[in-house]
Amino acid sequence: MLPKSVYVFDAYGTLFDVNAAARSAAADPAFASLAANWPAVAANWRAKQLEYTWLRAIAGHHCDFWQVTQDGLDWALETAKLGDPALRQRLLELYWELDAFPEAFAVLTRLRLAGAKTAILSNGSPAMLDAAVTSAGLADVLDAVLSVEDAGVFKPHASVYDLVGARFDCTPNDVLFVSSNGWDAAGAAGYGFTTAWVNRTGAPIDRLYATPHHIMNDLTPIPKVT
Ligand code: LAC
Repeated sequence: MLPKSVYVFDAYGTLFDVNAAARSAAADPAFASLAANWPAVAANWRAKQLEYTWLRAIAGHHCDFWQVTQDGLDWALETAKLGDPALRQRLLELYWELDAFPEAFAVLTRLRLAGAKTAILSNGSPAMLDAAVTSAGLADVLDAVLSVEDAGVFKPHASVYDLVGARFDCTPNDVLFVSSNGWDAAGAAGYGFTTAWVNRTGAPIDRLYATPHHIMNDLTPIPKVT
């Protein structure tokens, strides 16, 4: 018997490796210009993508995550002086088929075999999430894939976290929310979920209005978290 009945996972960075797109394109001889600086391009892409979500949420100018994903990439490529349209197109294609982290399938399987419900709650658009889940082979181990598009605003707006209770007819106390994004784990903790922060990079804790209840290096300990 698990301590929680619903296990909800952030998608990008938590189940799916967002750096895989730039890493994979950089390994292609056709995009040798990316080989030296792909980590900086990946980091700027991700940072701008997220910054745009927060700014759009605050300003009330929502668009879907695919738009901010393209906008963030354009900023990162211009900064790196990489103007090849074929590189842009390849990086965007790869975002639809990101690798899942190696332990993700086994952890989700274990939770479901123990009787829990599993879900994604992500900024991603339904089409992006559907493609990523299918490509990573996770469709059979998820009960729901929830997108912020049903709330019309990005995380960490409370109406996004409300989607979990609406889908599973549960209270925040029934939920373990898992994210590798420190700000998302904090936002979910502030909302009332028990939260686990998957701190894969050894980053310092975010100084926000709430702190995650559990911190781990990867997803493996999730079924044991209380
Ligand atoms: C998501 C982003 C925050 O999947 O990683 O919601």
